[in-house]
Amino acid sequence: MRVTYFGHSCFYLETATARLIIDPFLTGNSVCPVKAADVRCDYVLLSHGHDDHVGDALALAQRCNATIIGNFEISEYFAARGAQTHGLNPGGGHNFSFGRVKLTLAHHSSSLGENPLAPVYLGSPCGILITADGRHIYHAGDTALFLDMQLIGRAGLDLALLPIGDNFTMGPDDALEALAFLKPKLTVPMHYNTWPVIAQDAADFARRADLQGHAVRPLKPGESLEV
Ligand code: NI
Ligand code: MN
Repeated sequence: MRVTYFGHSCFYLETATARLIIDPFLTGNSVCPVKAADVRCDYVLLSHGHDDHVGDALALAQRCNATIIGNFEISEYFAARGAQTHGLNPGGGHNFSFGRVKLTLAHHSSSLGENPLAPVYLGSPCGILITADGRHIYHAGDTALFLDMQLIGRAGLDLALLPIGDNFTMGPDDALEALAFLKPKLTVPMHYNTWPVIAQDAADFARRADLQGHAVRPLKPGESLEV
């Protein structure tokens, strides 16, 4: 399957039978190489409710007739706004047309601040484990390092998408420890360099990971790889 990075935590996955977009923060993301109006997708997967992850989810779901997959509260929130949705919760998985999606733990928060005086609480933040075309892909969402990542890695991960930005999520030091727990064949860093507060040197992270025997490949927004 082809995996394309759209910057921040947004990835576009082209499986044999469906197009998936994860955390589609496109509009308002200065590093995003595509316009939301040009993206076609069948499923929109959301890790949590923060606006730098929900992004264009509703507009994509409506224009593309795509199904939003996320935690139960996110599913209900977008269903009430007219989208097709499928709600899960951590530990639960479901078989879709293209393969299986299972939500995992993530240590973070999950509100949507459309009105900063009264943010909407959108359930537990999650990671997303996708099995499609015989590949296992883990999108960690926004998270701290946690020991239970060892459980997520036991499926045998072909690709891990891990935040390294620090401040809101784990930074490079903790992400290196996450690699030891997850043991993915390949890792692409995310959630960095979108804003100055999460500026990181991804090439340096890749070098340090390599010294510990882990393959890390930073992608520029717009770049793709095959898994
Ligand atoms: Ni977040
Ligand atoms: Mn975030």
